Formats: sequence, C-alpha cells, structure tokens
Amino acid sequence: MYKPRTSCRACGLGSPQSTTLKQSTAAGSVYQEDQKLIEVFDLGVQPLANDFVAASDERAGFAPLKVLFCPRCHLGQLSVEVSPNILYSHNYPYVTSTSDTMKAHFGLINDGLSKECKRPNTVVEIGSNDGALLGFLLSHGWKTALGIDPAQNLCQVAQTHGIPSLCQFFNEVSAETALKCVGHPDLILARHCFCHINDWKGFVKGLEVLAGDNTVIAIEVPWAQDMLENLEFDTVYHEHTSYLSLKSIDFLLKDSSLGLSDAWHYDIHGGAIMLIIKKRGFDDARARLALSKERISLDAWREFAAKSEVKVMELSAKVRSLAAEGKTIVGYGASAKSTVWIQACGFKKSHVRFIADCTKGKWYKQSPGTDIPIVDEGALTRELPNYAILFAWNFRKEIIEKERLFREKGGKWIVPVPKIEIV
Ligand code: TYD
Repeated sequence: MYKPRTSCRACGLGSPQSTTLKQSTAAGSVYQEDQKLIEVFDLGVQPLANDFVAASDERAGFAPLKVLFCPRCHLGQLSVEVSPNILYSHNYPYVTSTSDTMKAHFGLINDGLSKECKRPNTVVEIGSNDGALLGFLLSHGWKTALGIDPAQNLCQVAQTHGIPSLCQFFNEVSAETALKCVGHPDLILARHCFCHINDWKGFVKGLEVLAGDNTVIAIEVPWAQDMLENLEFDTVYHEHTSYLSLKSIDFLLKDSSLGLSDAWHYDIHGGAIMLIIKKRGFDDARARLALSKERISLDAWREFAAKSEVKVMELSAKVRSLAAEGKTIVGYGASAKSTVWIQACGFKKSHVRFIADCTKGKWYKQSPGTDIPIVDEGALTRELPNYAILFAWNFRKEIIEKERLFREKGGKWIVPVPKIEIV
C-alpha cells in the first residue's frame, strides 16, 4: 500500500548519488546539519483522508503520517508514499468546488495568466478533475482545452461537459499524447495536484516535452510558509506528499530546460502560490526576489509541530466538555482536513454527530476511520445542533453567510483555523 521515502524528491539529499551539504557549499564546512531528511511532524498512523466509504464497504487502510524536512532545499515531504492507484484512480470523491469563492479565484487566475501568455488560446490542465476550470476558461475566451487526470469517474464527468480529457497520470508518455492532440499549448496549468505527485523529476520531464518556447507553465500549490504561519496542520495528509518551498523548486529545475520566472501569492485554500515556469532565457528577477523573502526553516517546522499539538488538545478538550454538558455538536464540510482533525482529536459519533456536506458522492458514507456519518448540507438547519465545527474553514465567509439561519436560531460555529474561535 505504501513505500518509504528517504531522499528529497526535489534536490536528492539522502540519495546515494547526492552530494553532501558540505560538498555542495563553496565555503566548506559552513553547514553542520544532518546529511539526511529530518523528522519534523508526526500525526501517527492515519486512514486515507478521502476514504469516505459506507459502513459495510471495505476501507483502503491506514498508513503513517509523518513529515520529513530537507535541510538543503527546505522541502517538507511525507515519510511514506501511498500508492497513487489506491489514492486516485477509481472513485476519487474530491471534486473541484463550484463555490463563489472558487469562481472568484478562477477569475483572478484567468486575468493573470491571460496577460502572462503571449496568445491565450490553447490550455492543457494537469489534474483537470471534473473539468470545472477548463470549462470556465473556455467560456472566458480560451479556444482549445485538454484535461489530463487519472480519476476515471472525473474524466467521464468532464467528457460529458464537453472537455476532452486524457485519463492518465501526467508523465513523459501522456505529455507526448497531449502534444499530438493540441501541439505546444500556450498554457500548461496544474492546480493543487503538484504536491500530490511523488515523481517530480518525471513530472518535469513531461513538462519539458509538452512546453514550447512560448508556453507558460502555471502550477498552483499550497505554500508551506502559509501552512506553518497559520497552523494549518490539517492540510497534512497522505495525498499531500510535499509541503513546498520555492527553494525546492529552484533546486528541482536546476538541471532542466525550465526555470522559475515568478511566484504569485493567493489567499485560496489557506494560502497558495502560483509558480510561473518557462523555458529558460527570461529575466528571473521576480523569482529571485520571492526566493530571497522565503522564511521556511527547520525551526519554523518545529514551532509549527509544537503549536499544532496544543491546538489539537484545545479542540479536543472543548468538544468533549461541550458534549459532557449535553450540547449537540456536528461538523460542516467533509473535507480531507476534517479527517485529519477528527483522527488527531479521536472524535467519534458520540462527539461529532454528523458532518454536513454539499457533495452528493460523500452522503451516506462515514468519515474515514470512524462511525461519523456524512449527510447533506440541509441537515444543519433541520437538526439545529448547538455547535458546528467548520472543517471547510477555507470557505468561512461564504458558508457562514449561506447558513446564516443556523446562527439566527442560536447555533454557534467553532472555526478551527487559524485559531480556534467560537463565532
Ligand atoms: P475542500 O476545502 O475543497 O477540500 P479538502 O478536501 O482538500 O480539504 O473541501 C471542502 C468541503 O466542504 C467539500 O467536501 C465541499 C464542502 N462544502 C460544503 O459542504 N458547502 C459549501 O458551501 C462549500 C464551499 C464546501
């Protein structure tokens, strides 16, 4: 089901052929850190965060959830890689949100990338999910779109919406196929899938095949700096194999024909950056500036680990004391993040009665590793619990506004990120 990772997927530290930190610095023995990845965060053994199945169905299983830090390029990465075939290929439940927050974000991306591309005509999206973003771009002036995604159920949905999709993992082979379909595209886009990929070098080779001299590559990823500063520990789960630093991308691209041209920061999903990558030969001043400002370090990871532990104890104690007082508590948003919180706090149905969610595919299933049922969104105002934990905190404003009846009737939200707040 999973295999261990002992070397850095960006700079190779820890692999037999990697140079040591000492050798890699001209100044000699300046750095005394370990020559291998350092363990910085451990959530124990956990179920797969999106393994939402019915009580009678077989579960995918459990795997260790531990982050290792690379002292050379500052990448955080999980200590094990769960087989992508188990995580994604069959009935993957995550669908790109159609929320207003997401639509506004798509608009921002389109504005920025249309300006960045010489000709905003042809776009290939890696990790295209159900085709929501490509559909948006086609209705905003882009002429040709092609999706690439390994999840069969999602490719079928995209096809029925008229978005041609290759049902494959992205690599040199699928890049060749995409090239035959649409030629070198003006834009290669990948939103929130790059940190799910184990073989970064293979991914870069695929990009080198598909990108032409004028292609803009835009990779949107959660940025470890935001996660560390906002204590978003619930974004650590098996699908997220990497916790990205800009420095690691600089290392990764070193031996390729591609380079980092810029990095745009967005608030979406608790903080993300859009890596703008191009075939070399451009002025990389903007990327250098962004790199020089990055504050990810071993100490920052250690502080994050200690503070996250305190936060887990805080939510766990709060919910248990409310339940002991006879208050009813539910969850809202059966996000992967909800699984991480529930496992870390050891919640069962006796603590969190249900989780309400708008995704039909998750209804009548259980939160992974527990007996907590997932139900429709309407359950919040039908059942009117005393408290609802907002596990989809990244949509806070939109959800609290949409569900205002809940508060009008006396319900209270427990928002767990960035700090535990009752509103
Ligand atoms: P999301 O934060 O997109 O993802 P992840 O699984 O990566 O943590 O998940 C948000 C969940 O919240 C998703 O299952 C859909 C749900 N949701 C609602 O139920 N109602 C809403 O209004 C919104 C915006 C999301």
